[in-house]
Amino acid sequence: MHLRHLRLLDFRSWPLLELELQPGVTTLVGRNGHGKTNVLEAVGVLSTLRSHRVASEAPMIRTGAETAMIAALAHNAGRELTVELALNSGRANRARLNTSPCRRLGDILGVVQSVLFAPEDLALIRGEPAERRKLLDELQVQRRPAHGGVLTEYSSVLRQRSALLKSASGVLRRGRGEGADAALETLDVWDGRLAHLGAGIVAGRIALLDELRPLVADAYRGLAPESRPADLAYRFRVATPPDESELADPELVEAVLLAELGRRRQDEIDRGMSLVGPHRDDLVLSLGEEPAKGFASHGETWSFALALRLGSLELFRADGVEPVLLLDDVFAELDRHRRAALAEAATGVEQVLVTAAVGEDVPDGLRGTRHDVVMTGEGAGRHSVITATDSEVHS
Ligand SMILES: Nc1ncnc2c1ncn2[C@@H]1O[C@H](COP(=O)(O)OP(=O)(O)OP(=O)(O)O)[C@@H](O)[C@H]1O
Ligand SMILES: [Mg+2]
Repeated sequence: MHLRHLRLLDFRSWPLLELELQPGVTTLVGRNGHGKTNVLEAVGVLSTLRSHRVASEAPMIRTGAETAMIAALAHNAGRELTVELALNSGRANRARLNTSPCRRLGDILGVVQSVLFAPEDLALIRGEPAERRKLLDELQVQRRPAHGGVLTEYSSVLRQRSALLKSASGVLRRGRGEGADAALETLDVWDGRLAHLGAGIVAGRIALLDELRPLVADAYRGLAPESRPADLAYRFRVATPPDESELADPELVEAVLLAELGRRRQDEIDRGMSLVGPHRDDLVLSLGEEPAKGFASHGETWSFALALRLGSLELFRADGVEPVLLLDDVFAELDRHRRAALAEAATGVEQVLVTAAVGEDVPDGLRGTRHDVVMTGEGAGRHSVITATDSEVHS
């Protein structure tokens, strides 16, 4: 798929951006802090409904504005669709498809597909387990939008169950009595919901990982042939986890989670928090025999992060989906060999959006149409604009 047009209204530093796009490469070049990543972030938000940089929408709405709008004309296998997302401060966000309002935001998932590479990806290797769970869960939602509902419901069950553990911890610790019986009964209900939804999440992650693992290993080998082989494994955090192959069966996972909830109940009551479930699992990344986290060198860390994204790109392609590739500021960090390997992977992609502070950092074959991005104005009027476009330099 590719985007033909992107419009931003009051999105971050852009009061208005109207960007005509074609298949092939588009490069945004400009100095640090001038608004390049903001454009890629907006495309990412259209495709995942989440920013890769912030957890809430407030920072994405231009200072002083009430609403930020991201709109795109997406071309997908001969069909064109306009998709529009309004991020509202203090009110529900709204989406439209071909100008018709959507009942749920999730209805626009799948219209714009993208894979984003960004410097923040280093956190996939070095950061907390939450970063890696997010990688799996977001991929899953992009491929199967209905999965988003399961994740939302799980979070809500987890929130309510944790609130109960906290608020009833006194009563529960004292044990018997009417209050304690009622709280235990409610806790049983939440346990059942948590185990059921949690099992769907674990089984989904395992199935995804099965497909992703060889693609990431291949991509890593291409980027860092001199390094050790890259591998991914799921860490299901229960006392005695079954083999990974068994975790693809949601019924089995549900039973294991229920047993673990029983085993840890007193602990959860004593500590007043939820200690069991896929919100505590991890994706273990390793190079040879060592975990990548804490052991991988700087270059290996970059290669692994890129391999995770390239593997994701190949996963979409295996589904028959050609996502837009968003390369945010990645070339400056890479050595010659890795630059060339990434450029090669990108040249076969239908549409690539690249940002760079220095145009020369972008490999020759990948420059395409170039837009110069500049921050202009003072104080509250400070904003990003495109000052020049050079469409002669097609890749
Ligand atoms: N909500 C907002 N309202 C107005 N301006 C914003 C908002 N959020 C971010 N900005 C501005 O956007 C700029 C950062 O934009 P962006 O991250 O796209 O820069 P960049 O060109 O990618 O820079 P770098 O090369 O350093 O990565 C900052 O100057 C910031 O002040
Ligand atoms: Mg940037």
